[in-house]
Amino acid sequence: MDLRGRTVLVTGSTGGIGKETARGLAGLGARVLLVGRDAGRAAAAAAEIARSAGNAEVEALTADLLLQRDVRDLARRVRERTDRLHALVNNFGVLDPCLPPTEEGLEATFAANVLTPFTLTNLLLPLLREGRGRVVNVTGGIPGGAIDPDNLQGEKIRVGWTFSQYNHAKTALMAMSHEMAGRLAGTGVTVNVVYPGHGNTPGNQGLPMSSFPRAYRPVVPLLRVLGPFVLSDLAKPARAAVRLASDAGFEGVTDVYIGPGGRRTPWPESVRDPRARAAVWSLCERLGDHTAG
Ligand SMILES: NC(=O)c1ccc[n+]([C@@H]2O[C@H](COP(=O)([O-])OP(=O)(O)OC[C@H]3O[C@@H](n4cnc5c(N)ncnc54)[C@H](OP(=O)(O)O)[C@@H]3O)[C@@H](O)[C@H]2O)c1
Repeated sequence: MDLRGRTVLVTGSTGGIGKETARGLAGLGARVLLVGRDAGRAAAAAAEIARSAGNAEVEALTADLLLQRDVRDLARRVRERTDRLHALVNNFGVLDPCLPPTEEGLEATFAANVLTPFTLTNLLLPLLREGRGRVVNVTGGIPGGAIDPDNLQGEKIRVGWTFSQYNHAKTALMAMSHEMAGRLAGTGVTVNVVYPGHGNTPGNQGLPMSSFPRAYRPVVPLLRVLGPFVLSDLAKPARAAVRLASDAGFEGVTDVYIGPGGRRTPWPESVRDPRARAAVWSLCERLGDHTAG
């Protein structure tokens, strides 16, 4: 689809898979709003994407997306720049299970992977409605396990123990997305989820050894050596998000999960469970309100 004249926002897009998603959408002519933490890196990424995509309309924004106050401030700045959005790609995610609670006292994996997409999407809904926008949420890990309403913020997991909090959070993101798609049915705003596939990204490279389950640790050095060779093409894991955000074939298509391999995949049973969805949704509402300031 030709995206000239349309504005898209991609989070976590100054590096990793998000940057390639942004590049793909810029290549289709969209005005692209990038988001990263650091103004210098964000400006450099915007200039580089603009050059390589032959599209000057790439703009850099900064926010710490672990923090709800920054998410709200980002939404305000986006509203100042545009009155409509064609797509919001909630790509930013956190894998590291060793991160401490955020400054706002929230468990970081849940805050990054579930709460931030929830809050940002809700705050930008007027723009998405205006643009008949597509919300694309990026999952990861091994999603689809049971959702434990009493463990959504890792209450039962020891810090640094396993990636299970990441898997749980990404499953919760899918449940939140499935719920949101239902709530927004008929508004023109679509909500879908994509599994990108693996890439050798800053997020992966920066993981401390202690964040890996003990059984994996002996092979981690080998994976770190092989990663740059076998997983360096980040355009590949970015492809499915670009398609969801841009293909004419996805016009009006909502409540869909594009699973590993780029195939349309049924929602896992845990995501379809209405009680699990309600638990995730109400926690997001509670934490979002709580930190609204
Ligand atoms: N990589 C994989 O193999 C893989 C596999 C499956 C799913 N996924 C999912 O795909 C998505 C992208 O993964 P990735 O590996 O590309 O991630 P990544 O390498 O961690 O992404 C880096 C991007 O995130 C930004 N970022 C990091 N912390 C931030 C913060 N606190 N606030 C705002 N921006 C922040 C970075 O900005 P700066 O420029 O400021 O650093 C940069 O733009 C995630 O949702 C991940 O869970 C990844």
